[in-house]
Amino acid sequence: MRPLEGAVLLATLLLGTASAAPLGERLAPCLACHGERGTSQTEGVPSLGAQMPDYIVTQLFQFRDKQRTAPPMNDMAADLSDDDLRSFSDALGALPAPVAAKAAPDAALAARAQALVAKHQCNSCHAGELTGRDNIPRIRGQREEYLAAALAAYRSNARPGYDPAMNEAAQGLKDDEIRDLAAYIARL
Ligand code: HEC
Ligand code: HEC
Repeated sequence: MRPLEGAVLLATLLLGTASAAPLGERLAPCLACHGERGTSQTEGVPSLGAQMPDYIVTQLFQFRDKQRTAPPMNDMAADLSDDDLRSFSDALGALPAPVAAKAAPDAALAARAQALVAKHQCNSCHAGELTGRDNIPRIRGQREEYLAAALAAYRSNARPGYDPAMNEAAQGLKDDEIRDLAAYIARL
């Protein structure tokens, strides 16, 4: 997608009004995979608690349009309307922040990963505590194997972002750096 198309698409989505229909039942299957309380217990399935609604909208749109490929999600998003995208995103973003499943990072891991975060300015986009902002995702406390897979997929361009910022940010990362970043961020 070209930058301008991306901006127009985003504006269109952000202007969409929330559906008045009650959501509980329609969200139940989503939460069965993603975790009722915002923390996913399932390998490969990201936690969605406290995720930025404006980011979730972009990803549901990409799943529906098959720009981001992940079989369960392409099917799950296929029949969602634009209003659904907005109301689902707002409801999911209101879930409690994910609880890190693992012990705090040890000092050596923290030092290596903090140097990488500084070098690649992860926090300039994802906010100081990596809690996300606007349409840039929260990554703090996300599942480790999901973070590692996401970074590798951006690097290989298998996962095209709604804009190329993250693909560019991932280009320079080595395998062991992806491992350290994922291990550290998942433990915050
Ligand atoms: C069968 C399990 C399953 C169900 C049901 C499911 N999801 Fe997912 N979802 C996944 C997986 C797996 C991924 C990660 C895909 C990937 O690896 O790129 C995902 C990714 C997502 C993402 C992207 C999160 C991010 O951080 O980028 C969103 C948003 C999402 N799902 C919302 C939903 C919604 C809304 C529903 C219900 C309509 C739903 N999911 C139902 C398994 C599921
Ligand atoms: C120039 C801004 C920018 C920088 C720098 C940046 N990111 Fe991102 N990041 C983004 C954007 C925008 C997205 C969403 C892209 C999309 O649509 O998939 C994203 C997505 C992600 C995701 C996927 C989250 C999810 O829930 O699927 C991860 C993980 C991530 N970034 C980690 C990092 C790490 C680690 C760094 C530092 C090495 C970093 N980012 C640097 C802008 C940035």
